[in-house]
Amino acid sequence: MQLLALADAQAVAAAAAERLLQARQAQPQRPLGLATGRTMVPVYAALRQQLGRLGSQQQRQIRADWLSFNLDEYVGLGPHDPRSFKAFMAGQLQAPLGLRPEQVLLPDGLAADPQAEARRYGAALAVAGGVGLQLLGLGLNGHVGFNEPPCSAEAPCRCLTLSAATRTQNAGAFGGDPEAVPAQAITLGLAEILAAGQILLVVTGASKAAILKRALQEPPCPEIPASWLQHHPRLEVVADQAALGAFLQGPGPCR
Ligand code: GLP
Repeated sequence: MQLLALADAQAVAAAAAERLLQARQAQPQRPLGLATGRTMVPVYAALRQQLGRLGSQQQRQIRADWLSFNLDEYVGLGPHDPRSFKAFMAGQLQAPLGLRPEQVLLPDGLAADPQAEARRYGAALAVAGGVGLQLLGLGLNGHVGFNEPPCSAEAPCRCLTLSAATRTQNAGAFGGDPEAVPAQAITLGLAEILAAGQILLVVTGASKAAILKRALQEPPCPEIPASWLQHHPRLEVVADQAALGAFLQGPGPCR
């Protein structure tokens, strides 16, 4: 594992965006794995900015080659619902970069059979060659994507029930009401995430310090889904001082 400690969320976003653009240029044939959440807002802002500074030929090439698969989507929310991850990605990347909808893929939250949609989405990712670089945020309960604890390292793309903790964490986008957060979601599993060529875990803010320390230092276990990332041969963690507080000052590994 490589750990890059940076001063603040802005520096983290710039480093993450650099890596995403590098991956698009170095491996245009492998799709990117993308994530949503508040952590990613400055990351996509930095990506738009950095892309705009490239030469026009490079920009055209990146846009023409773009293919990304997002991690997850709420069941029951469609593209026209501003709270859907589809709408988030349309606003953050697809529209500003002038990409076609089929270049920025997510599971269909309105599919009549969400479990079948999860199988279809996982299969589509496999046909596309699997993720090259996977961008990940970190849930307060240790989830990545929507892989809620307990979760095995072999869990595939599937429809699952969200935990109370996650619905509370994400209530902000739903008027602050955890009950208004959809009860289910479709998510890529740890199986697809761990099969990525590289993983970039981006973590900012003091609220994530305790779970980040556990995810990186405790022996991998189902109760902390992000801890399975320790098994990946090319994991890079980019975090700010606030998120690394416990890590840098703490008593050391808890094993
Ligand atoms: C959400 C998403 C995750 C995201 C995480 C952190 O529920 N499903 O992919 O990484 O929670 O969100 P935030 O960045 O808002 O803290």
